[in-house]
Amino acid sequence: MSTTTPPKTFHVKSFGCQMNVYDGERMAELLTAQGLTAADARDDADLVVLNTCHIREKATEKVYSDIGRLRREDGSSPLIAVAGCVAQAEGAEIMARAPSVKVVVGPQAYHRLPDMVAEAAAGKRATETDMPAEAKFAALPKRRRSGPTAFLTVQEGCDKFCTYCVVPYTRGAEISRPFTDLVEEAKLLVAGGAREITLLGQNVNAWEGEDDKGRAVGLDGLIRALAADPDLARIRYTTSHPNDMTDGLIAAHGEVDKLMPFLHLPVQAGNDRVLRAMNRSHSVDSYLKVLDRVRATRPDIALSGDFIVGFPGETDAEFEDTLRLVDAVGYAQAFSFKYSARPGTPAATMADHVAAEVMDERLKRLQDALNRDQVAFNRASVGRTCDVLVERRGKLPGQWLGKSPWLQSVHFIGDAQIGDIVRVELVEAGANSLAGTVLPRAA
Ligand code: 5AD
Ligand code: SF4
Repeated sequence: MSTTTPPKTFHVKSFGCQMNVYDGERMAELLTAQGLTAADARDDADLVVLNTCHIREKATEKVYSDIGRLRREDGSSPLIAVAGCVAQAEGAEIMARAPSVKVVVGPQAYHRLPDMVAEAAAGKRATETDMPAEAKFAALPKRRRSGPTAFLTVQEGCDKFCTYCVVPYTRGAEISRPFTDLVEEAKLLVAGGAREITLLGQNVNAWEGEDDKGRAVGLDGLIRALAADPDLARIRYTTSHPNDMTDGLIAAHGEVDKLMPFLHLPVQAGNDRVLRAMNRSHSVDSYLKVLDRVRATRPDIALSGDFIVGFPGETDAEFEDTLRLVDAVGYAQAFSFKYSARPGTPAATMADHVAAEVMDERLKRLQDALNRDQVAFNRASVGRTCDVLVERRGKLPGQWLGKSPWLQSVHFIGDAQIGDIVRVELVEAGANSLAGTVLPRAA
């Protein structure tokens, strides 16, 4: 196999969830620490990392078509590395089918990326899809710069085995990163410019650890410890399982000011038979009870969720139950998907797969209901006064964009800088954003 000159520039392209965004940032930091320079466009990069997602349909086809598109006019290709969950699930096949891919690296092994790239440049294709618990984080360089909002992965993997989901297979068993490592990484992010940190995990509220005094703590303990940093203004977390909403975490929503009033709590379906077939291990009623308890401690909490329509065997009547649940909750925002059979998951071989047209129609009805509620939530915010964390400039002169505590996008015109927290009155609501006017800050 031929050798190439080691790459000097790189481009990381991440698909899928926020955890992949975090992993993509860490891979970029790793490559930068090795002396490579980030290229804005993939056409300018000697090394392209495709950080893939396997959660829904066509993921693999998308990777192959992306690989094809990386071929340049003169017939050459950059050095291509496939990372993320497709790499984990289908690494051997990618290596066999796509000779231009030189590196395949799973989500638990990307700390080895620089070595693997060096091996590839020396002419040896490299695959690493082992799942060594925690080795990765210890091997990554320390965080330096950050925008005003930062992600921090605190937990990875999943032991829940919902019958439709590939995550337990691609990300492996649940692991929690140690408390002291996380406090240190958060400090570095804040020192690098972060005002808001979103704690990430496939089951973030299952995080557990020992605090600096050796006491067993859950996610609420970690949140309280991070909130003690005077320079950190906001904390969020995502994504959670209803069964792991502990009393302590629910209480924290009422007690920790820096914990933003927003909860993303996937339910997937509004019918108990479907939830059982999904192996969700919660019922509609137990889910609603959790929401009631959270609302009791934090009445203004904005709720979000994930939904799947057309799970195998889902009847029209069972789908109507999902619409009823949506009506009962009144989500501020939500994500909804058509069921997609994932190879190797139990649901893929279940009977009675729902026809594509039926799924299309159900998804449309669900999304209409969710959009209606999102608009209603935004309209109900008009007249509220709140803090906005400024994230970037808007399109108009003097315009800035940021987020409300309830994770709504807010635009306003005024004097500000990225990273400022500005007091605004919300004056106008659209489906996806609100307009605010700046208020003087109380002395
Ligand atoms: N089909 C459709 N949606 C899925 N999700 C996970 N697996 C599947 C699948 N096989 C959705 C769930 C989950 C979100 C991240 O993606 O709603 O909460
Ligand atoms: Fe997938 Fe269920 Fe685990 Fe979420 S809780 S990652 S949906 S298996």
